Amino acid sequence: MAESKHAESGTAGADPALAAILGRIDAGLPAARGRLFEFLRIPSISADPAYRAECRRAAEFARALLEEMGFAAALAETAGQPAVIAHHPGPGPGPAAPRVLFYGHYDVQPADPVALWSGPPFEPRLVEGPRGPRIVARGAVDDKGQVMGFLEACRATLAQGEGLPVALTVLLEGEEECGSPSLEALLAERREELAADFALISDTNLWRADIPALTTRLRGLVYLQIDLDGPSRDLHSGLFGGAVVNPLQALTRILGALHDAAGRVAIPGFYDGVREISAEEAAIWRGLPFSESAFLAEIGLAAPAPGEAGRSTLERLWARPTAEINGIWGGYTGAGAKTVIPASAHAKLSFRLVPDQDPEAVIAGLEAFVAARLPPGARVHWQRFGASPGIAVATDRPWLAATRRVLAEEFGREAVLIGSGGSIPVVEALRRHLGLETLLMGFGLDDDRIHSPDEKFEQACFHHAMRAHARLLHALGQGPAGGQR
Ligand code: BES
Ligand code: MN
Ligand code: MN
Repeated sequence: MAESKHAESGTAGADPALAAILGRIDAGLPAARGRLFEFLRIPSISADPAYRAECRRAAEFARALLEEMGFAAALAETAGQPAVIAHHPGPGPGPAAPRVLFYGHYDVQPADPVALWSGPPFEPRLVEGPRGPRIVARGAVDDKGQVMGFLEACRATLAQGEGLPVALTVLLEGEEECGSPSLEALLAERREELAADFALISDTNLWRADIPALTTRLRGLVYLQIDLDGPSRDLHSGLFGGAVVNPLQALTRILGALHDAAGRVAIPGFYDGVREISAEEAAIWRGLPFSESAFLAEIGLAAPAPGEAGRSTLERLWARPTAEINGIWGGYTGAGAKTVIPASAHAKLSFRLVPDQDPEAVIAGLEAFVAARLPPGARVHWQRFGASPGIAVATDRPWLAATRRVLAEEFGREAVLIGSGGSIPVVEALRRHLGLETLLMGFGLDDDRIHSPDEKFEQACFHHAMRAHARLLHALGQGPAGGQR
């Protein structure tokens, strides 16, 4: 098997070129952090139209950085925020080196509530924490810090003067955090330009600060807004109450019926296609060091967790679909009392999906579920904000074995295969449009507070990210373990 040739290839001691690259990364850590800080100072919030120009500025920053490193880099205009696409030729058309498509996102979540941050969200700072210094800023780990972890590995490799060991395309999206509305068109238009042997994404987590992980599953996401309309205007609740439909009551009644007493989603057909995890996967997950009470304590909760009966926390998070109310509003919410029957009621709903649920079937099932429960006089409107299926990545590909080896070398501990409850819709889109499998190697931690105030990236994790990516590039350049197609 070709892979045996590879076993020693990532060991810095055994390879002077790799040792030099890792040395460069170690010595250059402050400078790398400085470049990340510059990136983090740009408030590239894709969800808010007020930050349009800032998104473009972040794209331009990344483009210039790639160009300076020797990539052919350009902005790729879309109907929304521009993407950045950059190419590096690699070592030439030899038999071994694979073509890699690295995907990341330069956009970030809104920073609000800003008052809950310990400092300005777009003024990155180094703060001492229990695991050493941490980088605090919006986007620190999701995803600017992880993108820079990869790009800094390229920088250190290129500084050796021998090019890159793989043919590399970098694709940085500017709309990931708002559901990637322009991505499908971009992938379809640029199929040839983005062709590769596999995709690499660094936008997931380690298992623990000292335990590396490869993510093999992501949940999909369907996100909807429901507007339920009743009377043509807000009404006096005394003069009309009891005789007309109350949209808030109708909506909460329907949403209250979404789950049954055992925690299962009650929409008919919702579990169609849901696969039970394999005995092998169940055994791997059981073997992971995990404490439900510690998991809950970190977010201010006490055991036991509610949820689907008879399933472990990890199974619920990684392999079971959910229905969640993300927001609900309507009627009077100001000071004091106002007697009113609201004309309408609203909610934001999301569904995390697992393989092989069909997002369209889930939406159709939900719409039928709601329609069947609408009281007379109520009308419903739907708005969609994205629909992507759950993902299980192929675990039998040679680059996975290579990656496990480099992670073991970097951390001195075997990498574990984990799932994630989060969603990265591009993984499925890359498969469908470009035929690519994705390798998910991430360096975040569960307590990084992504999307929350005081998002952070442990400097040690940033450092590991740079080094592990450098090791991976090197290993992929060694031959068939990475190059096998
Ligand atoms: N990087 C995250 C997803 C993630 C984080 C996956 C940690 C695994 C581990 C991504 O940027 C994200 O926030 N995704 C959104 C969906 C997106 C369509 C807005 C999510 O999961 O809610
Ligand atoms: Mn992300
Ligand atoms: Mn995110």
